[in-house]
Amino acid sequence: MASLSLSTSTPTAAGSTTPQTYSSSFTTTISPLLFLSKTSKKCALKSLKHKVLSCNAENSSSLNNLDRRNVLLGLGGLAGAVNLTSSSVPSVLAAPLAAPDISKCGTSPLSGFKPGGTTPTGGDCCPPDSTQIMDFKFPTNQAFKVRPAAHLLSPKYIAKFNEAIKRMKELPEDDPRNFLQQAHIHCAYCNGAYTQSSSGFPDIEIQIHNSWLFFPFHRWYLYFYERIMGSLIDDPTFALPFWNWDTPAGMTIPKYFNDPKSALFDSKRNQANLKAVVDLGYNGKDSGTSDIEKVKNNLAIMYRQMVTNATDPTAFFGGEYRAGVEPITGGGSVEQSPHTPVHRWVGDPRETNGENLGNFYSAGRDTLFYCHHSNVDRMWSLWKMLGGKHTDITDPDWLNASFVFYDENKNLVRVYVKDCLLTNQLGYDYQRVDVPWLKSKPVPRAPRSGIAKKLVGKVKKTDDVTFPVKLDKIVKVLVPRPKKSRSKKEKQEKEELLIIQGITYDSEKYVKFDVYVNDEDDDEASAPDQTEFAGSFAQLPHKHKGKTSSKTNFRAGLTELLEELEADDDDSVLVTVVPRSGSEDITIDAIKIIYA
Ligand code: C2O
Repeated sequence: MASLSLSTSTPTAAGSTTPQTYSSSFTTTISPLLFLSKTSKKCALKSLKHKVLSCNAENSSSLNNLDRRNVLLGLGGLAGAVNLTSSSVPSVLAAPLAAPDISKCGTSPLSGFKPGGTTPTGGDCCPPDSTQIMDFKFPTNQAFKVRPAAHLLSPKYIAKFNEAIKRMKELPEDDPRNFLQQAHIHCAYCNGAYTQSSSGFPDIEIQIHNSWLFFPFHRWYLYFYERIMGSLIDDPTFALPFWNWDTPAGMTIPKYFNDPKSALFDSKRNQANLKAVVDLGYNGKDSGTSDIEKVKNNLAIMYRQMVTNATDPTAFFGGEYRAGVEPITGGGSVEQSPHTPVHRWVGDPRETNGENLGNFYSAGRDTLFYCHHSNVDRMWSLWKMLGGKHTDITDPDWLNASFVFYDENKNLVRVYVKDCLLTNQLGYDYQRVDVPWLKSKPVPRAPRSGIAKKLVGKVKKTDDVTFPVKLDKIVKVLVPRPKKSRSKKEKQEKEELLIIQGITYDSEKYVKFDVYVNDEDDDEASAPDQTEFAGSFAQLPHKHKGKTSSKTNFRAGLTELLEELEADDDDSVLVTVVPRSGSEDITIDAIKIIYA
């Protein structure tokens, strides 16, 4: 990977431009098209000109995929599939996860809070019921929105944002657009209130984290949130700001969030972090490093997670998750970090469960959540512009997975993943800002071939380890490489991946561990801006009914890393797994290297 750039424009170096402020009519001052590929540019131009948003750009072929399940079962669309019982679903056929039947929404453990109240009361987080579900249609005549960087907002824009949230908070408790009702959405989809009953599996919960549904679910969630805000302040151009934590100037909580008089204020945040530089690799406590170090580490983490560990769709989006199973294949690179550490870093340690942002059930009760996720969503757009294998998933079970949300007119709308792949089709894009982490590749601490060989006899090989191993202390192991010294072509075709399989963890804790490769130093692990740091596994606490542990996998890209560490000709690599938070109960089934 020689030099990295986004497909149509090379971002300028960090800090080289004067920050601009934008009013809500800033579509004239910045072009939302700068970041788009040629096809989507054409599409966006057409959209802007004709005010239609129906053109398909680069994903048209995948959009034309037939719903395999409907074909096989001869059903008339997913609406028909909704009535299937588990016995009528042949087990050999996987199927897309269908939108939950909200009338069957149940009490979620730890969900409870009354709209208007601030303390969990043990209630539930179900939305108001509705007998009518509309299928999503791309709106015609929609104003194009450009989501601005939250730290660059004009006072006028901040006032609008504040007003929109204030009005959401003032809506009646049972209005689905009400602020806490909107927060409930996150709780219901992530904390055991919904089951897969519409897919025929009433005993299996829906969990939209930790799998390939993470990005599309949150994109749709924000999409409707934004429309509700715009409609409440009567400004269809109003776009949800993104918390630009991937650039130095954006690495603190935008200060207007700290004004107690503002609707954007939330008292349940870590008081030590209100003005601090965010830690994208947060271990559950302050790292003690200087701000300069933090910024450097943050940029390196961004590079690691967006580039090295996101070489293909599975790595970026996360593993598959279909009807009839739980999401156990593993979350995507960005979901684990920085997404999860940022949640936990903002959440209030004075609260039992790290409320608000530090726990799934309560995260949506802090407005900062939506700006955080706006930036997470922006990562999806940026990642696709990096080229290579950076494309959306084409599996029909991903494309046809569905969710339901209330829109700005209180209509319950069913949406499909396949309709959210292009933001310009949904009528929005992101303000163009610098992407400094593209040039923040970690540097090797001690590149040396033969490290693993030298340690034979001192460190166990995976074959000699009795799995599962406990992660109550640092685990060091020599992992054999089935292939070495691969050709350039082989490397282009397949990435060398470090896989940590069958990670069983306590899902009610903030869990994090870091993974290092060929890091010999016992006293001090490498920092994130050093090549030896391969990535992090991180999970936000959440409760399921009747169980407290979850199982999943972790993967990290090794191809570039081993080249830089001059270890590409080695037979094995030294892997160090360092527990950082909540790891006492973690067990690991296997550690290995594969090519995919
Ligand atoms: Cu649904 Cu950031 O979590």
